[in-house]
Amino acid sequence: MRNELDPDRMPKHVAIIMDGNGRWAKKRLLNRINGHEKGADAVRTIVQTARKLDIAALTLYAFSTENWQRPQPEISGLMLLLRRFLSSERQTLVDNEIRLNPIGQIDRLPQAVRENLEAVMEATANNQRMILNLALSYGARAEIVEMVKQIAAKARTGALDPAAITTETVADHLYTRGMPDVDLLIRTSGEMRISNFLLWQIAYAEIFFTPTLWPDFGEEEFVAILHDYQHRERRFGAIPST
Ligand code: IPE
Ligand code: IPE
Ligand code: MG
Repeated sequence: MRNELDPDRMPKHVAIIMDGNGRWAKKRLLNRINGHEKGADAVRTIVQTARKLDIAALTLYAFSTENWQRPQPEISGLMLLLRRFLSSERQTLVDNEIRLNPIGQIDRLPQAVRENLEAVMEATANNQRMILNLALSYGARAEIVEMVKQIAAKARTGALDPAAITTETVADHLYTRGMPDVDLLIRTSGEMRISNFLLWQIAYAEIFFTPTLWPDFGEEEFVAILHDYQHRERRFGAIPST
């Protein structure tokens, strides 16, 4: 048995690139959608585990701006699964005091999905124990473009002095405003890339790549990664304290 996790060294913000659903399905000669279905089960597990471990913010990459290029049947299947997930998880999120916060170009999602999102957001709006950022139609570059537009508009009206822009100003105009930076970034499926996820927020994140395909990712591996994370020395560019 490994030692217990140290509550004082828990990451405040964990972000996960949930990749490998399609390959999981292909290995079993199943449809890609079956992989996404199993992936949704893994999401349930990891949300509960994160909550149990008192992680304050969990950001899950569920659908990227680039994923709109996939075949229409896969996109529709994903949207249907998302709606099912939102309906089935609503009460669990309420019971566990988790607030749902979708991030991304939400207006590009189908109306029915937006209604589901609204309902769960409303039901969980006052929850304080954990924030679940669901990245949907999310792209970090688009997020940065949005931030620049907002800041430029404020500069033009005089609400903001360009000379007074700081890193905090930028952070305050991203979807993750008010949240701590990402401490720990995990990507499943063996791909070693960022794929346009949280470019600003991961500046000093500890990164873990695992070959496990997302549907096979469970509590045990998550906890093992957290153990490794707790043994990493985060220096933030400074000299280690002795
Ligand atoms: C991740 O799994 C889920 C989404 C991107 C929606 P993929 O669908 O990318 O699975 P692979 O990478 O093809 O195995
Ligand atoms: C990243 O996975 C996006 C999500 C997990 C939602 P992709 O499968 O879309 O990324 P690439 O194509 O491997 O970079
Ligand atoms: Mg993929």
